[in-house]
Amino acid sequence: MKSTDRKYIQMFDTTLRDGEQTPGVSLTPEEKVELAHQLDNLGVDVIEAGTPITSKGEAKAVTEIAKLGLNAEICGLARTMKEDIDAAIGCNVNSVHIFISTSDVQMKHALGMKPEQVLSTAVESVRYVKDHGLVCEFSPMDATRTDLEFLKKICSAAEDAGADRINIPDTVGVMTPATMRKLIEDVKTVVKIPISVHCHNDFGMAVANSLAAVEGGASQVHVTINGLGERAGNAALEEVAMGLHLIHGVKTGINTKLIYGTSQLVSRLTGVPIQPNKAIVGENAFAHESGIHTRGVVVVPSTFEPIKPELVGRMRRLVAGKHAGTRGIKTELEEVGIHPNKEQLKTIVKRVKSLGDKGKTVTDADLLAIARTVTGRVIAEKKIVDLRDLAVVTGIRVIPTASVKLVLDGKEYVAAETGLGPVDAAIKAVQKLTANLVNVRLKEYRLEALTGGSDALAEVIIKVEDKDGNVMSARAAREDVVMASVEAMISGINKVLLKRRRLQ
Ligand code: KIV
Ligand code: ZN
Repeated sequence: MKSTDRKYIQMFDTTLRDGEQTPGVSLTPEEKVELAHQLDNLGVDVIEAGTPITSKGEAKAVTEIAKLGLNAEICGLARTMKEDIDAAIGCNVNSVHIFISTSDVQMKHALGMKPEQVLSTAVESVRYVKDHGLVCEFSPMDATRTDLEFLKKICSAAEDAGADRINIPDTVGVMTPATMRKLIEDVKTVVKIPISVHCHNDFGMAVANSLAAVEGGASQVHVTINGLGERAGNAALEEVAMGLHLIHGVKTGINTKLIYGTSQLVSRLTGVPIQPNKAIVGENAFAHESGIHTRGVVVVPSTFEPIKPELVGRMRRLVAGKHAGTRGIKTELEEVGIHPNKEQLKTIVKRVKSLGDKGKTVTDADLLAIARTVTGRVIAEKKIVDLRDLAVVTGIRVIPTASVKLVLDGKEYVAAETGLGPVDAAIKAVQKLTANLVNVRLKEYRLEALTGGSDALAEVIIKVEDKDGNVMSARAAREDVVMASVEAMISGINKVLLKRRRLQ
C-alpha cells in the first residue's frame, strides 16, 4: 500500500494567521469573522484564527470566531511562553498551536537558547496546554533545517508530553518534493501521533512539497487561500485540495465548488490581487485562446481541461486573440446571439488575428464591433437593462449624487446613490437597481481620452464579474465621462445577464 492510500487528509487553514502575515495585509475583527464563516462553509478542518498575544484586536477576533459555534476546530497560535498560551486559552479556542525554533541558526540567533533549553521549554509548554484540556499541535520551527536527530528527539518528547499533532514547518521553503517526503518518512519512524506539514513557497514548491509530505505519511496540511502568507506565501488551499482530490485520489472535507468564491472574498478583503495565470483561481485558469484548444474543449472538454471549471465554482472562457480558431469565435458570438454566415465568420476571424498580431488583446466589445462591421448591419444587442435617464450633482460642498432611471425587463425603476465622485455614485445607482437581476462587481475600470481637448471623446472600458465568475468586458464612448461609464456598465450587465439566461 502506498502511503497516499489513506482515506482523508485534514486541511488546517492558516489564512487568518500566516495569511495575515502577508506584507501589507491587516484584517479587522469583523473581516476575520466573515472569512471564518466562509472557511467553515468551505469545509476546512481547522481554522488558525490568529495569534492572540499580538494585540487586543487580534484576541477579540479569535474570541469572536471561537464563539461562532463553527464545525471547524478553532486554533490560536502561541510561542512556547506562558503569556502567549494564556492569551490563546483566554479566547476559548479548541486548540493551541505552539512553536519554537529548532534549527541551529534560529536557536542561536533568533532565540539565544541551547538545544536542551529549547527541548525542555517545548515539553513544558505542551504539558501546560494539555493541563488546560485543549488540543495541542506542536511545531519545531524551521524543522527542515534542523539536525535530524534533534528533530526526532524533540518531536518524540512533545508526543510523550501529550501533544496531539506534530507539525513539520518548512519555514523558509527550502525543501523539494523528494527531500520533504523522506523527512516525513523519517519523523514517522519515531512519531505515532498525526503528522502535519507547513510549507512556504520561497522556491515555488510549497504545494508540491505539501503533496509529497502526504505521500510520506502526513495526514494534515497547513494551507492558505490564494497561497497568502509570509514572503512568497504558504501552500495554496485550492491547489493542495485539487491536487489531493484529482491527482492523488485522496479525500478532504473541502467543498470544491466554494473555492472560487472564497478566493475572491479573500482577495477583496485582503486587497491582494490574484495573478491571472494562478492555478484554479486565476482569471486565465479556465480560459482557452488557441484554435486547437478552443476547438477541442468545445467538442470534448477533457481534451484541454484537466479540471472541470464547475468543480471549483468557475466557468470556461473562450478568448478571441491571434491564436483563436473559427469554432471558438463562433461559439463566443453565438453566446451573445450573433450568427454570422461562413464568409462573414472567416473575415471576422481574420480581423481578430490581425489585431492580435498588432499586440492588441481582443475584448468581447472588440469582437462585437468587428462582427457588427463585417456583417454590415447593426446587431441588435439584446437589452435586458436599458438606460432611460441620468442626472448627477457634484461640487465642492455637495456629496456627489446620481439619480438613474432604468428599464429592467420592460419596467421602469429609479434609484439615487451617493459616491466618492459622480461616476462612482452613478455606477452604484445602476448596481442598486440591477441587484435583483444580477449582482455584479466592477472588476476593472479604464478611462481613455480619444481626442485632444476638453471636448475629448472619453472612452470607458470596464470589466464586470458576477458571483459565478462570469467576466464580461464592455466599453462606451461619449463626450460625458459619467454617461460613458454608465453605458459601459449597463452594457456589461446586459452581457452577463444574457450569458446567465442562455445557460439556464
Ligand atoms: O513558517 C513557520 O514556521 C510558521 C510557524 C509558526 C509554524 O508559521
Ligand atoms: Zn509559516
